[in-house]
Amino acid sequence: MSTARHWHTASILANGSVLVTGGETSSGIVNSVESYNPLTGIWATTGSMNVGRYLHTASTLANGLVLVTGGYNSTSYFNSAELYNPSTGAWTMTGSMSVARYYHTASTLTNGLVLITGGQNSASVLSDAELYHSSTGTWSTAGNLSVARYLHAAAILANGSVLVTGGKKDGAYLDSTEFCNPSTGIWTITGSMNVGRYLHTASTLVNGLVLVAGGQGNGTSYLNGAELYNPSTGAWTMTGNMSIGRYCHTASTLPNGQVLVTGGYNNGYLNSAELYNPETGTWTLTGSMDVARRYHTTSTLANGEILVTGGSNSGGYLNSAELY
Ligand SMILES: *[C@@H]1O[C@H](CO)[C@@H](O)[C@H](O)[C@H]1NC(C)=O
Ligand SMILES: *[C@@H]1O[C@H](CO)[C@@H](O)[C@H](O)[C@H]1NC(C)=O
Ligand SMILES: *[C@@H]1O[C@H](CO)[C@@H](O)[C@H](O)[C@H]1NC(C)=O
Ligand SMILES: *[C@@H]1O[C@H](CO)[C@@H](O)[C@H](O)[C@H]1NC(C)=O
Ligand SMILES: *[C@@H]1O[C@H](CO)[C@@H](O)[C@H](O)[C@H]1NC(C)=O
Repeated sequence: MSTARHWHTASILANGSVLVTGGETSSGIVNSVESYNPLTGIWATTGSMNVGRYLHTASTLANGLVLVTGGYNSTSYFNSAELYNPSTGAWTMTGSMSVARYYHTASTLTNGLVLITGGQNSASVLSDAELYHSSTGTWSTAGNLSVARYLHAAAILANGSVLVTGGKKDGAYLDSTEFCNPSTGIWTITGSMNVGRYLHTASTLVNGLVLVAGGQGNGTSYLNGAELYNPSTGAWTMTGNMSIGRYCHTASTLPNGQVLVTGGYNNGYLNSAELYNPETGTWTLTGSMDVARRYHTTSTLANGEILVTGGSNSGGYLNSAELY
């Protein structure tokens, strides 16, 4: 990439390119945006966002535009949202959320709406959820979570409900989980995880179960544990442990149904990667990245390869990208 950055976003465009937005850099919080063409392996700078931001979200919409929401710039929290048009390379502001937030989640629903949950601003941890309607560029309320939370992880269940897991509130590491039926905005508390965690990952498996992996647990423990949520029973059960405890890592579902976890942090920056096999419930180490990193992104390309971008380690912000 031309800019070394972490806590940026990466989104797959309809043409297969990967769009990287914003993030924190050695010269502050940036609005710069660049895209990677997997066919040529070349990065190109494209239009800048109207607002420099990090800790924001980016979601590819059914109409091909990319919606960026919220975030922080070290002095202000944003409720603003903007849209990237891949055919012009330009950004335009769209409707603002009713609440400014960062450390929130964004899930693109099967009906094309985008559900934003929780997060944080100035002094408060947020419980509300909002839905973005791309047809009108406007937001509507999607009810309130039972538990306010940030640095949580969301996954879309097979029936279209959105499951929200863990996160942090004040000093607490949350084990609670809840799901929302986006068409009613009703949130329902479901089973609690065995372990409270934040900065973990949540991935919906092809068998319909949800895999939660790693994160930071109560105290200073970097979790190696993983657990599975069964939507038909609402229960969480521990599954195999990762070889290495980690948080601030990424998880990507591969075309073969396995889940690839990369990098992150425990007592040091990690370059290791491991694969979860849903059929055996076990993890195996796979090739390590060339560069140890956290606060990076991973994207599953159309050809099945995984693109890793940026992040940071003890040497600072990273502009390198690698393919798995
Ligand atoms: C953050 O955004 C606010 C509002 O747009 C702006 O006034 C401020 O200068 C920005 N701060 C930094 C550090 O960029
Ligand atoms: C939802 O939470 C917000 C604060 O995040 C609060 O202002 C609002 O009253 C709540 N709404 C309901 C319906 O509980
Ligand atoms: C964290 O662990 C301590 C010691 O085991 C316990 O007293 C405390 O209640 C736990 N806090 C949370 C939020 O789980
Ligand atoms: C989705 O599945 C959950 C768990 O089985 C269930 O409780 C919920 O009602 C379902 N939601 C919808 C929208 O069908
Ligand atoms: C998984 O790791 C935890 C410690 O993090 C340990 O207590 C537990 O016994 C491990 N489970 C298995 C099956 O190895």
